[in-house]
Amino acid sequence: MQENRREFIKRSCGLCASVVGISILSPALQGCSTLTRLQPVLVKGVLSIPVSSFIEKQQVVIIENSTLDYEIAVVKSMNNTYRSFELRCTHQETSLIATNSGFHCNLHGSSFSLTGKVNNPPASSNLKEYKTTVNSGIIEIML
Ligand code: FES
Repeated sequence: MQENRREFIKRSCGLCASVVGISILSPALQGCSTLTRLQPVLVKGVLSIPVSSFIEKQQVVIIENSTLDYEIAVVKSMNNTYRSFELRCTHQETSLIATNSGFHCNLHGSSFSLTGKVNNPPASSNLKEYKTTVNSGIIEIML
């Protein structure tokens, strides 16, 4: 049976859109898949993870905890200090996608640097930061 022109265009455009969608999402998904994810227990308002959680050149470790509304990204800087950010977009409170180069919101396209600063609007506020310290090889994040 011969396909009419309208059906051909509809089928072809759907295929093109899915290929373009996959190629746009690909870098974000690749960045996300390489990050270490930990589920530390919350003790007296503190989440603790070992410094050794950061392997090789990894700059970001993700923390999940059932008491948290959003995941937390712990970021290692060049001078071996650590900062922690809530992975909540400051535009409309969507969960962010973390990579080793920054944080991205798929809802309206905001992005944030590894220092929690807005790189791209519509978000206008920086990410919420948690006080983070290091004691004897343990990173402590105060909620
Ligand atoms: S909710 Fe993140 S950019 Fe709008």
